[in-house]
Amino acid sequence: MAIHSQQAPAVQAQVAKKTLLIVDDEPQVIKSIVRTLRKQDLEILTACSAEEAIKIIQHNAVGVVLSDQNMPSMDGVSFLAKVREYDRDIVRLLLTGFANIENAIEAINRSQIFEFLTKPWEPEALQSALSRAFDHHKLTRENRRLHLMTHEQNAQLLQLNDTLERRVKDRTVQLADAVRQGVLMLSLAAEARDDNTGEHVKRIQHFTQAICLKIGMTKTDADRIGFFSMMHDVGKIHIPDKILNKNGPLTDKEWQVMQEHTIVGEKILGSSPYYSVARQIARSHHEWMDGSGYPDGLRGVKIPLVARIVAVADVFDALTHTRPYKKAWPRHKAIEEINRLAGRQFDTDIVDAFVEIFSEGLNEAMET
Ligand SMILES: [Fe+2]
Repeated sequence: MAIHSQQAPAVQAQVAKKTLLIVDDEPQVIKSIVRTLRKQDLEILTACSAEEAIKIIQHNAVGVVLSDQNMPSMDGVSFLAKVREYDRDIVRLLLTGFANIENAIEAINRSQIFEFLTKPWEPEALQSALSRAFDHHKLTRENRRLHLMTHEQNAQLLQLNDTLERRVKDRTVQLADAVRQGVLMLSLAAEARDDNTGEHVKRIQHFTQAICLKIGMTKTDADRIGFFSMMHDVGKIHIPDKILNKNGPLTDKEWQVMQEHTIVGEKILGSSPYYSVARQIARSHHEWMDGSGYPDGLRGVKIPLVARIVAVADVFDALTHTRPYKKAWPRHKAIEEINRLAGRQFDTDIVDAFVEIFSEGLNEAMET
């Protein structure tokens, strides 16, 4: 047992030491208590007044306070209430005269004092009360430590979660960008064989987006369909150069091979649901509303809407640009031709939307 007075060094004692502070205005009482506890493994600090005791608490890691009730400057209950304000984990015990019990009990309950002892005390009763008090203190501190630890770990988890979500978002954007780049490269590779500028697919994309918006689609859908429209002729990779770049009319056999770019394109685009719109466009962008197109001879609304849209964009762009077999048409003449074929080759509603876009100057912005 180590005994220190209130002049103990102002260092934070280890909680594990079980530091007890005894407060009583009668030195004889303090001595008696210390004697009773001499065989206990306790670090004992003592004070003769509430004021001294508060100073000690401010500079020492006190686990349990045992205070007399009757002290001249401040009674024990009031003092212990102050102790709680300073450190709510300190376990507080009250020592009171037997005659004062009735008055003390209410105050004790109000102040949430851990236990009280009566004078004169039984040594065993004092020792066991202190033993319970230190156990309680240890549990309280441990509970608080675990609570803090859980709180910190939760905060770390939340931060980790945020970081993870941000990374997943970043990677998703990167992946989508990589897919876009891949599709663009494939589309340009197919296109470069009969349009070495590679701009045709980008204009088709732009026209397609504009038509989609004009007929009331959302920006997201318009962007998506515009993106997939770039792959409409990906099947041309399969067509021999001598047919693709022939400077003159195709023979029936060559025309048959040329038409296969629609079916080949659909096959190249695989079976993933992600590319289903791209497959519809690749297969059906040469279908005609009157059923005379290829490869399936679909008629009217049986032709997927996305293919009807790309058909207008594709033909307009082909007409207004030079091809091995023809010169570029003026834009107004191409629009006349598209209008003439509305209902027969093209969906009338799509043609109307396109003409409206054209009149708003979109084509001039896209012209290269
Ligand atoms: Fe085509």
